[in-house]
Amino acid sequence: MASLLRPAAIAAISAAFASRATATTLVAKCPTRFAWEDAQLTDNVISNSEPSLFGFGDDVGTGAASSSQNDNAGGPDCRAMPGDASWPSDETWALFNSTLGGALIETVPLAAACYANWPEQRDAAVCEYLTSHWNDPHLHVEDPTSAMFPLYQGRTCLPTDDPDGSDCALGGYAAYSVAATDVSQIQLAINFARNANLRLVVRNTGHDFNDKSVGAGALSLWTHKLRDIQFLPDFDCRGYSGPAFKLGSGVMTEEVYAAAEVNGVTVVGGECRTVGIAGGYIAGGGHSPMTSLVGMGADQVLSLEVVLPNGRFVTANEDTNPDLYWALRGGGGSTYGVVTSVTIRAYPQIPHTTLTYAYTTSPNVTTETFFESLGVYMSYFDRIASASAYGYFLVTSIGPDQYLFSMMPLWGANMTKPQLTELVTPLLDDLVSLGIAITPNITEYPSLYNAYNGTFGPEQVGGYDNHAASRIFPKENFEPAKLDDTLAAVRYAVEGGGILIGYNIRAAPNPTVNQTNSVNPAWRKTTGFFILGAAWAANATDAEIQQTSETLTDDWMARWRAVSPGGGSYGSEGDINEPNFQQSFYGKHYPRLLELKKKYDPTGLFYAPTAVGSEDWYITDQLPWIPTQNGRLCRKK
Ligand SMILES: Cc1cc2nc3c(=O)[nH]c(=O)nc-3n(C[C@H](O)[C@H](O)[C@H](O)COP(=O)(O)OP(=O)(O)OC[C@H]3O[C@@H](n4cnc5c(N)ncnc54)[C@H](O)[C@@H]3O)c2cc1C
Ligand SMILES: *[C@@H]1O[C@H](CO)[C@@H](O)[C@H](O)[C@H]1NC(C)=O
Ligand SMILES: *[C@@H]1O[C@H](CO)[C@@H](O)[C@H](O)[C@H]1NC(C)=O
Ligand SMILES: *[C@@H]1O[C@H](CO)[C@@H](O)[C@H](O)[C@H]1NC(C)=O
Ligand SMILES: *[C@@H]1O[C@H](CO)[C@@H](O)[C@H](O)[C@H]1NC(C)=O
Ligand SMILES: *[C@@H]1O[C@H](CO)[C@@H](O)[C@H](O)[C@H]1NC(C)=O
Ligand SMILES: *[C@@H]1O[C@H](CO)[C@@H](O)[C@H](O)[C@H]1NC(C)=O
Ligand SMILES: *[C@@H]1O[C@H](CO)[C@@H](O)[C@H](O)[C@H]1NC(C)=O
Repeated sequence: MASLLRPAAIAAISAAFASRATATTLVAKCPTRFAWEDAQLTDNVISNSEPSLFGFGDDVGTGAASSSQNDNAGGPDCRAMPGDASWPSDETWALFNSTLGGALIETVPLAAACYANWPEQRDAAVCEYLTSHWNDPHLHVEDPTSAMFPLYQGRTCLPTDDPDGSDCALGGYAAYSVAATDVSQIQLAINFARNANLRLVVRNTGHDFNDKSVGAGALSLWTHKLRDIQFLPDFDCRGYSGPAFKLGSGVMTEEVYAAAEVNGVTVVGGECRTVGIAGGYIAGGGHSPMTSLVGMGADQVLSLEVVLPNGRFVTANEDTNPDLYWALRGGGGSTYGVVTSVTIRAYPQIPHTTLTYAYTTSPNVTTETFFESLGVYMSYFDRIASASAYGYFLVTSIGPDQYLFSMMPLWGANMTKPQLTELVTPLLDDLVSLGIAITPNITEYPSLYNAYNGTFGPEQVGGYDNHAASRIFPKENFEPAKLDDTLAAVRYAVEGGGILIGYNIRAAPNPTVNQTNSVNPAWRKTTGFFILGAAWAANATDAEIQQTSETLTDDWMARWRAVSPGGGSYGSEGDINEPNFQQSFYGKHYPRLLELKKKYDPTGLFYAPTAVGSEDWYITDQLPWIPTQNGRLCRKK
């Protein structure tokens, strides 16, 4: 339990500052592998241990062009579960653990201390700590298996003050985790899972809204300990020269922002401090306050290192495995292998200016005027995003026929205060002429780190009282011909109780990096990305959750989809129930992504809900609208 109590003051920001002396700065023009990436499994080691358990799968997904391996129908029907005759024996797990050098962890659910049915963990003080910190992402990040949003894990072990009331069960949590610190352990785990027909999951921070990083009975690869940050001030290879970072795949956004600050540069990352920038964020595309200026997170990637489903460790960049390089930049996590590190480009330090304001309906601002003002803001989307700025805003009901708009903030990347003021003055004037009284706060910061730290507070996780869907609207939706219809669809959802988190954003063209990647093409045509949340009471019944989820997907979002043909949705912030998810999350890239899935992972070792190729699989024992990870993973016939 001690590790759980390691204070959330693993305060990664100060840690990153403190470690700057040791943070390696490399003069090399092309980055080399991290030392732990050179620790690889060799055929020699395997032949001296248990080749049938740990041997490479060189006959599967060799990476060589092949169509003869596309037969997905072979192999067992379902992945093994504890209790099955085929489940590895305790002796085999012990052998696996010793081969790993002791890195195997048997899952103890994070909140086990709160439950009588975990007598060895049971500890009232620990339970109290867990309960009071459950919303802090750092708590979950430091645990090998926890899911930050446990709805689709099955909610089987939440903190409780009633230890005798129910049992804490593993539910969708993996059976075992490998706390990987080098590449050989990842190769061993992949080979073992493939050879023993185990379900495999990749778990970095556990941020995924849809619990893509957990799975019942699985062997979980925990990448959180791969935390090296290497600054490459003079990167010069394959066509790009300039500053770059090589990041271990466990590094969190706040750590990279801090390292960029220390080294006087800027990087592209999201707004959430603890998201795995080189894990799920880049894999899924990655949007950022920098995106309207220099493109998506995935657009910054110069090279990656990855362990493939056959256990082999390879590099993916413009010159080496270019098809994999294309797929790993936008095609989603847990699909083609385990990424161990990513090299991204950096930019010079630039100023950032933010604008915040908020208003509500009031005697002076009727509901009509309120939504009219939202339409006015939308009519500026193209102009603002084209000027490289980004808007992040909230629209929600705050009572019967009462609504709130909060700009939190509108962000001008590479803009001074006079520049942002000039850009937004016409919008603010329009709001005033609608009779809306606002007090704009425009603040200039010298660097991204300062702007980010001054803007985005610590995020709250751990909840299971809401679910979100999203839409990447084509920019035409905010142009005069379609604006009214778009606004009507948005208003319908907000009046129905939906919580809108909006982003006014474009994926800016960027000539210095290759944007020929698998990012959802909808991002290339948008100026407005909207997340729509649907909430229920914390004690809601399954029937209530199902009803609300259905309303979200089949009523509110159906109207958004209908009004935005050619748009899409963001898989990293998407609806697990998204209809035709292949089109929504991947667009026209889906066929190519699926072809590469069959090439590199013909046996479907990597599975995550809504990931490429996931339609070949199902999970048993599902409730409609609440698809959890706590059944058995089986192949569709
Ligand atoms: C509060 C909050 C704020 C957010 N803000 C933003 C934002 O501003 N911009 C944005 O674009 N997104 C944002 N997101 C979404 C975020 O990008 C995704 O949830 C992302 O997938 C998280 O990645 P992770 O590695 O931290 O999480 P995990 O849940 O650990 O992993 C997510 C997925 O990636 C896979 N994966 C992780 N690491 C690897 C690896 N090394 N190799 C292969 N597969 C891997 C996992 O198996 C899983 O399928 C936000 C999410 C939250 C909860
Ligand atoms: C793996 O080995 C380490 C070191 O011996 C031990 O601490 C750990 O408990 C073992 N894991 C399992 C699942 O037995
Ligand atoms: C509402 O409008 C009136 C008349 O213009 C004005 O005096 C008053 O201050 C306004 N109230 C708010 C809260 O803006
Ligand atoms: C920021 O703006 C300056 C001055 O206009 C320009 O020279 C520079 O290229 C811009 N930086 C980025 C990263 O766009
Ligand atoms: C404006 O915002 C900045 C940054 O959040 C804050 O420090 C400052 O106090 C705000 N100013 C006013 C007048 O609210
Ligand atoms: C980040 O902001 C907080 C206040 O929100 C402040 O206390 C802290 O010092 C800031 N950190 C840095 C490194 O500037
Ligand atoms: C970008 O990548 C694609 C696919 O790998 C390649 O065909 C193209 O030539 C690259 N473009 C540039 C500008 O390097
Ligand atoms: C949920 O709690 C509220 C009070 O907080 C109560 O009124 C309601 O009946 C409860 N619902 C269920 C399904 O238990």
